Amino acid sequence: PMKLGIMASGSGSNFEAVAQAIKDGQLNAQIQVLIYNNPGIKAVERAERWGVPSVLLNHRDYKRREELDTAIVEVLQQYQVEWVVMAGWMRIVTPVLINAFPDQIINIHPSLLPSFKGAHAIEKALEAGVKITGCTVHLVCPEVDSGLILVQAAVPVLPLDTPETLHARIQVQEHRILPQAIAQLAPRTTSVTL
Ligand code: GAR
Repeated sequence: PMKLGIMASGSGSNFEAVAQAIKDGQLNAQIQVLIYNNPGIKAVERAERWGVPSVLLNHRDYKRREELDTAIVEVLQQYQVEWVVMAGWMRIVTPVLINAFPDQIINIHPSLLPSFKGAHAIEKALEAGVKITGCTVHLVCPEVDSGLILVQAAVPVLPLDTPETLHARIQVQEHRILPQAIAQLAPRTTSVTL
């Protein structure tokens, strides 16, 4: 099984979608640890219910992004993580983390990249007046929301949408494509016979 480390800053519904996909046999993986940066978030309660250890690394305790990322790498290594999943991680990550797990970190972003990079992607899509948006799972590189795209899903924007209603519609797709993208990363253990 793939040994996953999940990083979250909020509700953790994507964490839960990964846990459920593993339980349902759709994903051959195990979640080694949840790393979170905001005390009291719902993601921690979910981790407890799934029996996954969680570790708080509060960015407010670190002066520089690199220091937070150094602490993250230490925890990921301590839990023998091989693949890192940023599932609603709302901090910019640095090469300290990226270089420790080359091409082994993925992120889920609530837009069809390369549109609406960065924070407030859903609000930006509403302001732009697009009729279709969606979500993207991509490899993490030093430039924010710019790594190789792995899976995307399109979601319609409806006339009366608020950020909340649109986010809910996007999340249905996120919960489907995130486990799918992780499964795609699994190293091929069998070779194709011609
Ligand atoms: C998700 O919708 C994810 O796309 C977004 O945060 C939400 C977390 O939800 N990520 C970003 O905006 C990254 N910049 P969750 O905590 O319920 O999984």
